[in-house]
Amino acid sequence: EKGGFEHFMLKEIHEQPKAYRDTMRGRIDEAGKHVVLPELKLSCEQIKNIRNIQIIACGTAYHAGLVGRHAIEQLVRIPVENDVASEYRYRSPIVTPETLVIVVSQSGETADTLAALREAQRNGAHVLAITNVVGSSIARDADDVIVTLAGPEIAVASTKAYTSQLIAFYLFALYLAEVRGSQTPEVISQVIAAMQALPEQLESMLAKPEAIKAYAEQISKHEHLFFIGRGLDYAVVQEGSLKLKEISYIHSEAYAAGELKHGTLALIEDGIPVIALATQDAVLEKTVSNIKEVGARGADIMAITHEEHVTGLLKSVNQVFAIPKTLPLLTPALSVVPLQLLSYYASLARGNDVDKPRNLAKSVTVE
Ligand code: M6R
Repeated sequence: EKGGFEHFMLKEIHEQPKAYRDTMRGRIDEAGKHVVLPELKLSCEQIKNIRNIQIIACGTAYHAGLVGRHAIEQLVRIPVENDVASEYRYRSPIVTPETLVIVVSQSGETADTLAALREAQRNGAHVLAITNVVGSSIARDADDVIVTLAGPEIAVASTKAYTSQLIAFYLFALYLAEVRGSQTPEVISQVIAAMQALPEQLESMLAKPEAIKAYAEQISKHEHLFFIGRGLDYAVVQEGSLKLKEISYIHSEAYAAGELKHGTLALIEDGIPVIALATQDAVLEKTVSNIKEVGARGADIMAITHEEHVTGLLKSVNQVFAIPKTLPLLTPALSVVPLQLLSYYASLARGNDVDKPRNLAKSVTVE
């Protein structure tokens, strides 16, 4: 049932190109010009009236929501807040009938997310669920559902569910953009075309895991490391850091690269591994200056970037790993993959139970 793979996690990492294709299938018209989401009850009228969006989830699904926020704010220009579900109810969130709440949950059974959904409905919000399980409690209670078609996810560490959630967010943001006229048809078809190229790009990355595996073996000997990034790269390193902690038990922190010098830089000492995600061209120069800050304190830096920046970055870092080029907004759907593999191989090198990390359950049904 592991399809020839040693662990469910590795199998699920490799199922991501299929999960992308399945989640997009039937939701993009033949000409590649429009997103179609016939399952939505949300009317065009309601969509035009949305004033704010709140995205609520836990763990990895929360991290998918961080990327979702960028997609919606960039393409639709509606203000979006992200909340951890266990915090949402206790901060008296401001909800109006023009608020759209999006809950994200692979299992559809996470107790905190379900409670947040109910709280949002009580306050009059329309709730859209992005979930991987059609018959789940969250799918049943939500006003609308976009199902991710990742297939069953067995490993406790979430991989293909996260990336399918990203695809769902991109589709939904494009749909909103078209209904509200916030983007030109040219931009919409350009994003769609780039999305359709993702599965193949991902396949090319998955075919070459050696460099990441070797690096994972190197970091598996450390107890602490740091991830840095800006913008969407910051959203993705938060997921990378959670994954690494969850299955390798290596302590790591993900930092917005510009925040380091406000405290954390004090922890950087000779030989500490720092993983810099540097895929967002608009902030690349700024990230490079943060890379130099940690480099000057002796950090052992690995950067993940696009081919065209490899030579330049090699002046400031010890190792570079290149990922294929897509639109900046879609990059998380590719850049998270080396981080998933890194956690997997680090966990393996440490002899951990990759699919069943200590203290954790796949589905968290208690608050
Ligand atoms: O089923 P859900 O998406 O609601 O689960 C939320 C989190 O418990 C889950 O993503 C958790 O963080 C993962 N084990 C991380 O890999």
